[in-house]
Amino acid sequence: MSVPQITLNDGVQIPQLGFGVWQVTSDEIVPAVSKALEVGYRHIDTAAGYQNEDGVGKAIAESGIARDELFVTTKLDNPDHKRDDARRGIEKSLSLLGLDHVDLYLIHWPSVIKHGEAYIEAWDAMQEFKAEGLVRSIGVSNFNIEHLDKLNGAVPSVNQIEIHPTFVREDFLAQLRERGIAPESWSPLGNSTEPKDIDHEVIKGIARELGVEPAQVIIRWHLQKGLIVIPKSVTPARIEQNFDVFGFELSDAQVERITALDAGRRMGGDPVTATW
Ligand SMILES: NC(=O)c1ccc[n+]([C@@H]2O[C@H](COP(=O)([O-])OP(=O)(O)OC[C@H]3O[C@@H](n4cnc5c(N)ncnc54)[C@H](OP(=O)(O)O)[C@@H]3O)[C@@H](O)[C@H]2O)c1
Repeated sequence: MSVPQITLNDGVQIPQLGFGVWQVTSDEIVPAVSKALEVGYRHIDTAAGYQNEDGVGKAIAESGIARDELFVTTKLDNPDHKRDDARRGIEKSLSLLGLDHVDLYLIHWPSVIKHGEAYIEAWDAMQEFKAEGLVRSIGVSNFNIEHLDKLNGAVPSVNQIEIHPTFVREDFLAQLRERGIAPESWSPLGNSTEPKDIDHEVIKGIARELGVEPAQVIIRWHLQKGLIVIPKSVTPARIEQNFDVFGFELSDAQVERITALDAGRRMGGDPVTATW
């Protein structure tokens, strides 16, 4: 099963489907990432703030998979936006991961309420890390247009943002694409917030039509919309199921029916009001 690659604006290729590990505990992380690598994921999305980079590194080391077959993303923690802190941040992440570089490094949140415009300094530091080969590609997460506009004309490769069937953000996605920034969907299944997107009648109906599971329908929707997508699970059968999405396709009409579920329903934090 081969996962499509998306070419970022700096030429780096990222597997379109990855494995997210937010809220994966220290007990769960090694078995979860090991299972993901076993079923074929080659793209892992972690963060300093998830406090599980060490487990990701352990699972990678134990897998024996060649480094150049893997795509590892981690994120700079919000309190580390100042230049020296950012350098300590990347060094600590690399040490915990047991790697000499990551493939994608993101500023996790602009964190304006707590840290003002220090994210601009973080961006300058990230450009240095890229020049030094500590990271192959650099991007941001949870950045609105107003934050992107403060980066002195620089264009991040990726903006990792909340997107799922009840929070589609078509206008924002179009603006990112116009700038050459690849959108990456976080909480692609809607996390587990009730009412769950996977329990929506339209999603369940399409799953029945195709003889697949609701989560697979949603992951396929992200893929067919050209989004990078990083579902999380600690359940072995779901880790496998979420990767098994290349043997069927949604029709254009099915994609449209899912897109029409957009209700502007943000489930996670809002970059403007986030206090972390
Ligand atoms: N940049 C950011 O600020 C940010 C914010 C949030 C998330 N993220 C990234 O995005 C990744 C994914 O987002 P997320 O973890 O919030 O949520 P998600 O992937 O949308 O959903 C995960 C939830 O869905 C359940 N699930 C997974 N597969 C399923 C399936 N096939 N059937 C039914 N339920 C299923 C999981 O349960 P089990 O685990 O119990 O199986 C878990 O409760 C994160 O892990 C992280 O890497 C980034």
